[in-house]
Amino acid sequence: MNVSIVGSGYVGTTVAACFADLGHEVVNVDIDEDVVDAINGGEAPIHEAGLSERIAAHGGDRLRATTDYGAVRETDVTFLALPTPSNADGSIDLSIMQAGAESLGTALADKDGDHLVVVKSTVVPGSTEEEIGPRIEAGGDLTAGEDFDIAMNPEFLREGTAVEDFLNPDKVVFGANNERAYATIQTVYEPLIEAADGGVPVVETGVREAEMIKYANNAFLAAKVSLINDIGNVCKEFGVDAYEVAEAIGLDDRIGEQFLRSGVGFGGSCFPKDVSAIVAAAHDAGYTPQMLEAALTVNDLQPERLLDLLDGHADVAGERVAVLGLSFKPGTDDVRNSRAIPVIEGLRERGAEVVAYDPVATEEMREHFPDIAYADSGADALKGAHGAVVVTDWDEFAALDSEFDAMDEPVVVDGRRVVERRDDITYEGLTW
Ligand code: UDX
Repeated sequence: MNVSIVGSGYVGTTVAACFADLGHEVVNVDIDEDVVDAINGGEAPIHEAGLSERIAAHGGDRLRATTDYGAVRETDVTFLALPTPSNADGSIDLSIMQAGAESLGTALADKDGDHLVVVKSTVVPGSTEEEIGPRIEAGGDLTAGEDFDIAMNPEFLREGTAVEDFLNPDKVVFGANNERAYATIQTVYEPLIEAADGGVPVVETGVREAEMIKYANNAFLAAKVSLINDIGNVCKEFGVDAYEVAEAIGLDDRIGEQFLRSGVGFGGSCFPKDVSAIVAAAHDAGYTPQMLEAALTVNDLQPERLLDLLDGHADVAGERVAVLGLSFKPGTDDVRNSRAIPVIEGLRERGAEVVAYDPVATEEMREHFPDIAYADSGADALKGAHGAVVVTDWDEFAALDSEFDAMDEPVVVDGRRVVERRDDITYEGLTW
C-alpha cells in the first residue's frame, strides 16, 4: 500500500521505517528539514535499536520524507503521529494535532478517491471525532465519512525497544466507525500480523474506545508501579523487603510478575503525561478518578522519600552528593520527567553540591541543570561525596565496588535496587 505518516518523532519514524520494511511504500511528512534530509539520506533521526538498519535499507527509496503535505495525495492512508503535549494544568494540548489535521485536509481537498486518516497519537476520548476530524473537514472543505474516513490506532511501543514492540505487539487496536475503514487498516497491518511471531490479536472497536484503551493501558501500568511503590513504602516501615514480597505476589497470575519493581517511580514521555491528561479529562467530564490521582501523588512522593532516607544518615548542606543515573530508565538518554529531576531539585534545596553521572544522558540533563557538576564516571561522582543516591537502574552501577571507599561519608540510598547491600557502607534501599 501507499502509506503516509505525518510526524517523525519516536512513534512516526519507527512506524514509517517498519511499514517500509514490511513492504509498503511510505512517505513521512515532517516540518523539520533536517529530519527529512536524514531519512532521505538513509540515516535515522533518533536512536532506537533496529531503526538505523531499516532506514539505511529503505530511506530515499521505499521510505521517503518530505516537508510537503501534498505527498499524502499519492497515498491511500495517512497516520497522524504528531505530539500531544500537556498544558500547564496537565490537560492535553491538541493544538499541534489540530494544525496538522487542517494542513492534511487542505492537501486532501485535491485528491480523488478514498482516503483513510488514522490517528496514532495519544488523544483523550472524543478528540478524533470532535477535534481532529472537523479540522480535516475545515482544512479542505471535506465531509468525514464521504471524502475521507477517520480511524484511531493507538501505539504501545516503549522507548529502547520501539521497533521490536511495533513488529511484535501484544495486540493491535483498530478504532473505526465503518467497514471500509476497518478493511483499509487491516490491509495496512496484514504483513505485520503475518510476520509477527505467533500471530497478533486484533481488537476491532469504536474510535472512542480505541482512544481510551491507550490511556487505560498506560494508566494501569503507571498505577501498578505506584501501587507496588505504595506497598514498598509500607514494607520499608516494617523492615520488610518489598522485592521478596513482589516476587511472591507476582506468582499469582492475576497480578503478574511484570512492573513490580518498586523504587523512585516512573518517568518518561508517556506515563506522567498520559495519566495527567486522562485525570484532567475525567475532571472536565465531572468525575474525580481517585486511584489515578493517587498514582501521580505516590509517584511525586518517591523522590522525597529517597531524600528523607539520605537525611537520616547525613546532613548534606554544603556537602558533595553523588546522583547516579539521570535518564528516566536505563538504555536511553531521555530525561523527560526523569525522577532525577525532583531528586536534584530536592538536594539543591538542602544546600547540597550535586555531582551527577549518567552513561549517556549528561548533555540532556545539562539543559535542565546547567550549573551542577557532572562526572565522567560513577567512580568520579563518588569521590569525596558525603552520600550517593541511585536514580536509574543502569547495570554498570551494580559493578561499583571499591569505588565506594573513595567517598567521604559512605552512605548510599538506592532508588532502584542495583547496588548490593554491603557492610562497609551505610546502605538504604528505598523499599527494602
Ligand atoms: C511506556 C509504556 O510501557 C508503553 O507501552 C507506552 O507506549 C509508552 O510508555 P516507556 O515510557 O518507554 O513506555 O517506558 P517503560 O519501560 O514502560 O517504563 C516507564 C517508567 O516506569 C520508567 O521510568 C521505569 O523506570 C518505571 N518502572 C517500570 C518502574 O519504576 N518499575 C517497574 O516495574 C517498571
